[in-house]
Amino acid sequence: MPAVVILGCGGVGRALLKQIAATKLTVAAVCDSKNALVAANGAFTAAQLSAIAEAKAAGKPLAVEGATVVPVTDSAGLAAVLKQCKEAAGGKCFVADCTASDATGPAMAEAGVAVALANKKPVTSSIDLYNKLALENPRNFRNESTVGAGLPVMAMLRRMVTSGDPISRVAGCFSGTLGFVMSGLEAGKKLSDVVAEAKSLGYTEPDPREDLSGMDVARKALIIARSMGWKLEMDDVKVEGMYPPEMGQDKMSVDEFMAALPSLDADMAGKAQAAAADGKVLRFAAVVADGKCLVGLQSVPKNTAMGALQGTDNIVEVISSCYPVSPLVIQGAGAGTETTASGVLADLLELADIHA
Ligand SMILES: NC(=O)c1ccc[n+]([C@@H]2O[C@H](COP(=O)([O-])OP(=O)(O)OC[C@H]3O[C@@H](n4cnc5c(N)ncnc54)[C@H](OP(=O)(O)O)[C@@H]3O)[C@@H](O)[C@H]2O)c1
Repeated sequence: MPAVVILGCGGVGRALLKQIAATKLTVAAVCDSKNALVAANGAFTAAQLSAIAEAKAAGKPLAVEGATVVPVTDSAGLAAVLKQCKEAAGGKCFVADCTASDATGPAMAEAGVAVALANKKPVTSSIDLYNKLALENPRNFRNESTVGAGLPVMAMLRRMVTSGDPISRVAGCFSGTLGFVMSGLEAGKKLSDVVAEAKSLGYTEPDPREDLSGMDVARKALIIARSMGWKLEMDDVKVEGMYPPEMGQDKMSVDEFMAALPSLDADMAGKAQAAAADGKVLRFAAVVADGKCLVGLQSVPKNTAMGALQGTDNIVEVISSCYPVSPLVIQGAGAGTETTASGVLADLLELADIHA
């Protein structure tokens, strides 16, 4: 019986614990930032998984009757737990990384386990780590939920790459927050008003610059480029965020930033009006083409799938030899703990089938 280890018991990890209980997969361990909880006989029951999720949701430490708590303080400690679970399961260990940690990638690589990632860090840090996790044994690697949550973006790209359909361009909107902002601009709202609205609705991070910088979109662009075989590092992605450097996190507080935002309204309204005069709309997009990754504002024709996108949905358009003019399009919710967990679960089930 293969062992599933779930790293992270936050929003996505807890949703995965609930979803996995209804499948053929068995969970051998659950880890958070402090501890690994290892099932005594190699597999938690559905009732134990539910108790673990409820306890963590209530802010309690990882614990459940019939399991051992192993303190884990660093990447080496996590690798040791993973190796132990792998050995106990006869060599078959699938790890679902539902953290946002830098420590998990090196641990998973050292333990030589199969991985299903929601965490972008292992695939956006050094190309060496990426090679170890993704390329040395592709049968051990899935990362659907690192781009577009549960949308089958990575599965689609993998099928196109492995079937030999040359991809010439991937373009997408991968930030629900920036999608909401773009729809607001299109409706004639001021940038400062629509960002304040997104913040009050909980669509932005506590510091909206985390979203407006475009860095999360840039990480997704890098993941797409690497999945197409490009040997790029993060510095190779050209990112133009939605605010100037003098309004950066090192220059002013969140409140000061929100107060300064109206100074950007006129320029942004001018860009939106210029696009509209041309039958276009503004989108905050990633474009991966011609060996380059560009992330920032784009004017796109309104009568395209990307131009028609509204609200927080994500979209990806792919041009390839089989889809040379009208792109292959995938669109839908690109965030949310349930949909993100469902992407991880689909990856785990695929790994289980591959290694059956
Ligand atoms: N939420 C979404 O809609 C969404 C969508 C797409 C992708 N994602 C990605 O999914 C991942 C998880 O998101 P989330 O919303 O569930 O985050 P979250 O609620 O902050 O949960 C993160 C979990 O990771 C644990 N953790 C941190 N460092 C760890 C380590 N070294 N080893 C093991 N566990 C560790 C934390 O432990 P403690 O409980 O001890 O703090 C926590 O349980 C992130 O990478 C995120 O970018 C999320």
